[in-house]
Amino acid sequence: MADIPIGDFCSLNPLELFQQVTAQGEKVRSLKAEKAAKGEIDAAVQLLLSLKLSYKTATGEDYKAGSPPMDFAPISNGPGDAEVDDFVDPWTVQTSNAKGVDYDKLIVRFGSSKIDKDLINRIERITGQKPHHFLRRGIFFSHRDMNQILDTYENKKPFYLYTGRGPSSEAMHVGHLIPFIFTKWLQDVFNVPLVIQLTDDEKYLWKDLTIEKAYQYAIENIKDVIACGFDINKTFIFSDLHYLGLSPGFYKNIVKVQKHVTFNQVKGIFGFTDSDCIGKISFPAIQAAPSFSSSFPHIFNNRDDIQCLIPCAIDQDPYFRMTRDVAPRIGYPKPALLHSVFFPALQGAQTKMSASDPNSSIFLTDTPKQIKTKINKHAFSGGKDTIEEHRKYGGNCEVDVSYMYLSFFLEDDEKLEQIKQAYTSGALLTGELKKMLIETLQPLIAAHQQRRKQITDEMVKEFMTPRKLAFDF
Ligand code: TRP
Repeated sequence: MADIPIGDFCSLNPLELFQQVTAQGEKVRSLKAEKAAKGEIDAAVQLLLSLKLSYKTATGEDYKAGSPPMDFAPISNGPGDAEVDDFVDPWTVQTSNAKGVDYDKLIVRFGSSKIDKDLINRIERITGQKPHHFLRRGIFFSHRDMNQILDTYENKKPFYLYTGRGPSSEAMHVGHLIPFIFTKWLQDVFNVPLVIQLTDDEKYLWKDLTIEKAYQYAIENIKDVIACGFDINKTFIFSDLHYLGLSPGFYKNIVKVQKHVTFNQVKGIFGFTDSDCIGKISFPAIQAAPSFSSSFPHIFNNRDDIQCLIPCAIDQDPYFRMTRDVAPRIGYPKPALLHSVFFPALQGAQTKMSASDPNSSIFLTDTPKQIKTKINKHAFSGGKDTIEEHRKYGGNCEVDVSYMYLSFFLEDDEKLEQIKQAYTSGALLTGELKKMLIETLQPLIAAHQQRRKQITDEMVKEFMTPRKLAFDF
C-alpha cells in the first residue's frame, strides 16, 4: 500500500477508508512482529489512529475489523458476478429465474436484514395488531434498523413515515399500490405523521417528458394515492417541483447531502457515467432529504432529530444506503427501512410491471372486462398443457402469476392455502385459478375507482399545503 499523507483522507469514501485502516492495521502488526525500530512502529501507529479517526468522522461509527461500512459497500450487480443472475437497481429489475429475484441473496448483497418471525412477533406484541398479510407472507421481507424504530415507539418517542412515487405516467397499476397499502397500515397502527414525495423532477430528468407533463402526472397520481385512504390530518403529500420552491428547510438539507457525496460515490451506487446530465447526478440528494425531519419544519416544529421509517420496494434501497451513509455526517439520525419484493409482470416474475406496456399490468383504470381479458390472455401460468396432465402432475404455484397476485391481494390466509393445495395437487385448473383472481381484483379496483372519483382538486391542494399535522412536536 502506498503511504497516504495525513490529512488527505477526506477524498476517500467510507469503504476506501475502511480498506486503508485494515491495511494499516496489518502493517503495524507486521512491524511489531519483525521487531522493527520503535520510531517506525510509532509512526505507523500514529497513521493508523488518524485513519481510524477519519473513518469515524466519515461514518459516524467506530472502525470494526471485519465489518465494512455496509451502507456504502458497492453492490456487485449482474454481469461479471458469476453466480448472480439477478440485476436490481432503481431503473432495472431483471432475472432469468421464473420464480423471480432471489431475495435471500439480495439481502446478503445489499447488507440489509431479513424480516424474520421474531421481528414480526415483536411488531404484533408492541402494536397489539395482527401483522399485515404483506408481513406474514414475506412481501415486505427485508429491513434496516426496524428494531430501533420499535424501541423508539416503546419508549414513547416520535418517528415518522416517508414514502414516494415517481409519476412516470397518468396510469398507475396495481403493483404501485403495494407500498401505499402497507404505509397506510403502518400509519394506522403506529399513529404517526406521513410524508409522501412525488418525484416529478426525477421523471422529467429521466424520461422524455416536459416539466408541465411531469407535474400533471404527479397531480393525477396523488389522487390515486389519496384514494388509498390516507388521513388528511396526518399526511403531507408533495411534488418536488412544487414544494422545493416553498421550503428553505428542504433545500438546505438537499445542499447538505450534495456536499457530502462525491461524483465517484454516486457513480459507484447508481452507475452514472460522465455523459449523464448533472440533474441526474444530483437527484439522489432530493430523494434523500425527506428522510430528515427538518425538511418539514411546519410538521416537526423545526426539530431535526425525529427518526424516519421508509417503506419502499427494494429497488429504491440504493438511494437510502447513500442517505444512511450521509446522515451521521450532517448530524441527523439514519432513516430505517422496510423493503418489499417487486410486483411481478403478468407475463412472469422475471421483471417488475411496467406502466409503459399496457399488457404487462392491470391498471387502476381498467374495466372489469379488461381485467378479465388481460388475466385470461396474459397471466403466466404454472399449470400443465393439458387437463389430463394437470390433473396428474398438478400446477406450480411458484411460477404462476395468478397465484402470486392472489398472495398480494387475497387477505384470507386459509383460503389462499386451500387454493395452493388444490392447484398443486391438480384438483384446481388454471382457468379456475384465474377466475378467482379476476373475482378478487374486479371489486378491489372498482372500489378504488369509486374512491378516486370523490377526490376533488380542493382536497389535492389541501394535502399538498405545507401545514402542521395532528401531532405536537
Ligand atoms: N424514486 C421513486 C420512484 O421512482 C419515488 C420515490 C421518492 C420513493 N421517494 C421515495 C419511493 C421514497 C419510495 C420511498 O418510484
